[in-house]
Amino acid sequence: MARINDNFQKLPGSYLFSKIAHRVADYKQLNPQSKIIRMGIGDVTLPLCDAVVKAMEHATEEMAHRETFRGYGPEQGYAFLAQTILDNEYATRGVSLETDEIFISDGAKSDTGNIGDILGLDNIVAVTDPVYPVYVDTNVMAGRAGNLLENGHWSNIVYMPVTKDNGFVPELPQKRVDVIYLCFPNNPTGTTLTKAQLKKFVDYARENEALILFDAAYEAFIREKDVPHSIYEIEGAKEVAIEFRSFSKTAGFTGTRCGYTIIPKTVIAYNEKGEKVALNRLWNRRQCTKFNGTPYIVQRAAEAVYSQAGKEQVRAQVDYYMGNAKIICESLQAAGYEVFGGVNGPYVWTKTPENMNSWEFFDYLLKEKNIVATPGVGFGPSGEGYIRFSALGDRDNTIEAMKRLD
Ligand code: MLT
Repeated sequence: MARINDNFQKLPGSYLFSKIAHRVADYKQLNPQSKIIRMGIGDVTLPLCDAVVKAMEHATEEMAHRETFRGYGPEQGYAFLAQTILDNEYATRGVSLETDEIFISDGAKSDTGNIGDILGLDNIVAVTDPVYPVYVDTNVMAGRAGNLLENGHWSNIVYMPVTKDNGFVPELPQKRVDVIYLCFPNNPTGTTLTKAQLKKFVDYARENEALILFDAAYEAFIREKDVPHSIYEIEGAKEVAIEFRSFSKTAGFTGTRCGYTIIPKTVIAYNEKGEKVALNRLWNRRQCTKFNGTPYIVQRAAEAVYSQAGKEQVRAQVDYYMGNAKIICESLQAAGYEVFGGVNGPYVWTKTPENMNSWEFFDYLLKEKNIVATPGVGFGPSGEGYIRFSALGDRDNTIEAMKRLD
């Protein structure tokens, strides 16, 4: 008798963004004339920049000729991209890494979801609340989360609330944990940690033999000084942290798919005998077994992000989205809403009006204003009473949506 992984049956019916997409599709079917503006899922709207497109075209041409055709590439990614990333993203910030400490992939969602493959099932996991649902759902699938409680938390997960009361800065876990997921600039709140605030987590991990899984998918949106772009800017982090990065929001790759994970060879965890094991080696083993590498064409496209033209064009795209974020923040504030984030990240975290709960406000926005946003409670119970607006949309639509809320 074939048996399922019973953990899947513990999960709520559908993934947050699928649930929203269904609700919007149902509404649209009943109201085909409605002009819906989508500010829900953080999907980009600008096309790939010219430098990236040219690199893809060139790589496609290479694939069309026997002499330059490529079959399977290295599972870890091509050295040309690995070195380019290390030179541009890390060496420039004083972080020295080697090319066998970076793993190119099809995106940070896959990597943050898959990393649990190399970690024991008895680890106690800590997440912020609210949190990007992938971290929690994948731990539920693996069997680390325990049971869903009435308050929306999982019995075996330790939650670190990020709320208005603590300025969206999580406190260290109240009980001892083994694995800590952090995402900064934060999805969903759009807020950040300073270097000193992040250092507390690194120190905690070093003192408690814990591991930090640091999702830096939104680092390109950082505008303020003293906000770390990489956790490795913090002393000691190379012993305790894995970092995830993505080209999705930075360079418009949500549909193109490319990201990478940094696992310094000094990051270790323990086996059942209490011996140290390098996680780099385990992840390499995992990737070689389950992943055949990111397409060559896509890796050449990602490399072009770091050409002189690519840097300028991608920067202009990020500036455009942050221009949207400013419009959203200012318009919502002018209309009397309380807003957070939107300064170093493309999300604006907004208090719902008149004590509406998140889904009530979602429905109001959808039905009365034809705007899609993401209900804060979908990211965890501490997100109740909030809604998230994405700034990754089209400028005219952003302005139009804000007019509707005036
Ligand atoms: C989001 O809207 O939170 C993101 O688009 C999700 C993702 O990057 O997978």
